[in-house]
Amino acid sequence: MTWWRDAAIYQVYLRSFADGNGDGVGDLAGLRSRLPYLRDLGVDALWITPWYASPMADGGYDVADYRAIDPVFGSLAEAEALIADAHGHGLKVIIDIVPNHTSDEHPWFQAALRAGRGSPERRRYHFRDEPNNWPSRFGGPAWTPVADGQWYLHLFDAKQPDLNWENPEVNAEFESVLRFWLDRGVDGFRIDVADRLVKAAGLPDIPGAAAPSYMDRGGGQPDKDRPEVHEIYRAWRLLLSEYEPERTFVGEMWVRDAERFALYLRPDELHTAFNFAFLKCAWEAEALRDVIDRTVETHHRVAAPPTWVLSNHDVTRHVTRYGRNDTRFTRRRHDLPSDLALGTRRARAAALLSMALPGNVYVYQGDELGLPEVFDLPAEMRQDPVFKRTNGKDLGRDGCRVPLPWSGGEPPFGFGEDGSWLPQPAEWHRLSVESQAADADSMLSLYRLALRVRRAEPALGDGRMRWLESSEGVLAFMRPPGFVCVVNLAEEPIDLPPGTPLVASMALEDGRLPPDATIWLRRSV
Ligand code: NOJ
Repeated sequence: MTWWRDAAIYQVYLRSFADGNGDGVGDLAGLRSRLPYLRDLGVDALWITPWYASPMADGGYDVADYRAIDPVFGSLAEAEALIADAHGHGLKVIIDIVPNHTSDEHPWFQAALRAGRGSPERRRYHFRDEPNNWPSRFGGPAWTPVADGQWYLHLFDAKQPDLNWENPEVNAEFESVLRFWLDRGVDGFRIDVADRLVKAAGLPDIPGAAAPSYMDRGGGQPDKDRPEVHEIYRAWRLLLSEYEPERTFVGEMWVRDAERFALYLRPDELHTAFNFAFLKCAWEAEALRDVIDRTVETHHRVAAPPTWVLSNHDVTRHVTRYGRNDTRFTRRRHDLPSDLALGTRRARAAALLSMALPGNVYVYQGDELGLPEVFDLPAEMRQDPVFKRTNGKDLGRDGCRVPLPWSGGEPPFGFGEDGSWLPQPAEWHRLSVESQAADADSMLSLYRLALRVRRAEPALGDGRMRWLESSEGVLAFMRPPGFVCVVNLAEEPIDLPPGTPLVASMALEDGRLPPDATIWLRRSV
């Protein structure tokens, strides 16, 4: 069995995970010192968000040098030591690669500015005399003028110019960057904005781009999910296959259409991709059943394992989402009230559901602590460019990136000496690793137990699932040979099918499973 087909993968948002040098920003020294924590949590692999040299206009997704570590995080030697340490603990390391855009401070973009219109340097990016009507994903237009009157394209921030993937120099450079890190022992890459590298020839206007619904439009738009992008991944897969032991790609594509999504997972392309349909889904039995069926079915056809994702560094944390009346994630909202006790209860149930489904499971740092979204950050401390580009209409993503509380009774909870880069709520002392480790009923204890069982159970991870008959509002499925998962999304407690309880997200009530709870059972076969 290849590891990437059933791994539990922990997302490390580096600047908020652990601070080794006390400056209030997470770093490699901090991560290295906490590897035993991750090993004991029971995950199999880490995905580390960008660690490259960067002006940090978008938390490091604006890369100035793909072969160097940013000094705020450490050094190349430390990155190599981290990879070795992680391997020593039995943990694989997946790093982020950002091929859609560079930083505007990348030497290529600086050279393009200097070289002027019509130059080979400008052909590495998209420079034009007139902008088209494309909007930036972060708000405002996707074009910014330069001194000589030309404009350059940036689907994200103005400090993230888009590369021109029609220019073969661009792919040659990225293949060399992939090799640079593969030669240093990384086990895989998470590909940022994997569906947007190629743009429609001539960069035509997007019909109706001004409509608010445009961001949600399906594949094949001029600025995303072009058929030609698949050629890039076929070439990358061949490159990866030269390496032993096996390495992997996970794609980040917000492609709504499940069939088009699965095209990226054909056997000669990416190994896996984040399942955002599941992340966005409401906490409702029928909606979840549909997403699960569609996911399993489309992935099965291309023989790729599904992934199950509840949160990441771009979305409202699911404890907060699940405590709302409307539990879907459509876009970031800060004006909706949330019952965090209810959200936490559902998050516990969702964790067990996601770990029982076939394929990979992702844990975003802080999921295992049940952290909620933080809304009341001071405007001057917010760093997400989304906040500025929307004039604060969208609070942005800082609220899901607040540094982890490790220990102690007050902020920064063992993260930094005089405070962390974003302030943590004082009440997080209850949610710290230290207080949860001592509590058998905590979210952390549930994750530790469930990940241990998931690893030991031959039925879990890669493989098939079969729905069992169940009453309305209940999801019940079997993973052969003898594993059963039951999720109660109805309003009343329910009777359990036969089997020996392995893990439950809530205590049973008179032998019945309460609402918003999940149980794992073993049934003899
Ligand atoms: C997706 C990343 O997850 C997000 O954080 C980033 O802002 C954009 N890609 C642009 O790189």
